[in-house]
Amino acid sequence: MKLRPEEEENINHILAPYINDTRVQKMKNFMQHGRISTYEHVESVTRLSYWMNKRLHIGADERVLTIGAFLHDYYLYDWHLTDEGHGLHGFSHSNTAMENAINHFGIGKRTQAVIESHMWPLTFTKIPKSREAWIVCIADKCISTKETLLCR
Ligand SMILES: [Fe+2]
Ligand SMILES: [Fe+2]
Repeated sequence: MKLRPEEEENINHILAPYINDTRVQKMKNFMQHGRISTYEHVESVTRLSYWMNKRLHIGADERVLTIGAFLHDYYLYDWHLTDEGHGLHGFSHSNTAMENAINHFGIGKRTQAVIESHMWPLTFTKIPKSREAWIVCIADKCISTKETLLCR
């Protein structure tokens, strides 16, 4: 997966209001899979989502897609410490991330939907209903699988 320099620039432009926010930077302190931080994970999901949309000509809204992908795991805790092996994190964190993104940045309904449905089919009533939501849901699974298998 390779993005062109102007595409990287466009992603950075769209994410400029979020990237340097100290609350967003906290994602660097939490581990997602193996040795990968949540911040690295959401960066990978953002780039793959953007790439899929461009190369497969899906026609998703770039802002909704990019911001939704970047904030999809904006739940701001270490799930290894809080989850205690019950697996609740898997079911609840999409909602926590969405609430944080609303409270901190006032994101719109379409971006909220991307975050809320990214764990489908685990959260089986939250079905992705837009192109942006489908892309992030699929990109997250690809990246998570890669991180879990290769980055221990
Ligand atoms: Fe997630
Ligand atoms: Fe994720």
